[in-house]
Amino acid sequence: MVNKYYVTDGARADGVRQLFTSIAPQYDRINDLQSFGLHRIWKRRMRRLAAAGEETFALDLCCGTGDVALGMARSGARVLGIDFVFPMLERARWRVQRAGGTGGRVSLIQGDALAIPCPAGAFDVVTMSYGLRNLADFEAGLREVCRVLKPGGRLVILDFGKPENRLWRSMYFSYLRLVVPVFGRLFCGDSDAYRYILESLNAYPARSGIEQMLAGNGFGCVESADLLGGVMHLTAAEKQGQTASLFADL
Ligand SMILES: C[S@@+](CC[C@H](N)C(=O)[O-])C[C@H]1O[C@@H](n2cnc3c(N)ncnc32)[C@H](O)[C@@H]1O
Repeated sequence: MVNKYYVTDGARADGVRQLFTSIAPQYDRINDLQSFGLHRIWKRRMRRLAAAGEETFALDLCCGTGDVALGMARSGARVLGIDFVFPMLERARWRVQRAGGTGGRVSLIQGDALAIPCPAGAFDVVTMSYGLRNLADFEAGLREVCRVLKPGGRLVILDFGKPENRLWRSMYFSYLRLVVPVFGRLFCGDSDAYRYILESLNAYPARSGIEQMLAGNGFGCVESADLLGGVMHLTAAEKQGQTASLFADL
């Protein structure tokens, strides 16, 4: 069955834009329901790994409604959130305003993760929670993140995984195929919106594939953890130093 949001003929980004524009008002509620609230724990773990505190300039790429950006700001970091879907950003803005004290440390702008509107070497930390899987080109996205990180800067990725245990994987994929689309139908009147998760996951290389891509695109110290038996993966890496520049002036 063809999913109207999972477009593979070069218009991938258009489908993703339409998807998140349509689900933005219900996005946070469905996140809580479909993950039984666990996404909050996973994002907390992600923020601990990002170690963004005072003096840190962090980018939360594909920031959506701002969960991770706000959390890092609460730890004292200055955070830029970027997303290309305006209604998701509007919801994030509302949450930042509501947060009061931390609000001053979060800025939100509309932009494309494949052409980040920031200079090279601008950030100490980049986080991407449930963002990378949605990009039209994963490697181009990782190269773009590498560009905007300072040498030694850290990238932390949280996304859906593919459990190695076959029984667990088939139970989990059945949940994504049969149950999660029901939330889309009930809350957004559109089951395709949440059937998209499994379809995008099928094309996503998950933990091992992303680790290899990181190693081939300017990152070192690549490490991952499986969450809930591989249902999610948390991957961290650091931008390698630029040793070649030592000879640049010779
Ligand atoms: C599943 S949501 C994740 C939101 C948030 N990070 C979270 O964890 O709740 C994916 C987000 O990525 C954004 N996105 C997808 N592709 C993008 C791109 N190329 N540039 C910027 N944002 C993008 C979508 O608009 C959406 O808000």
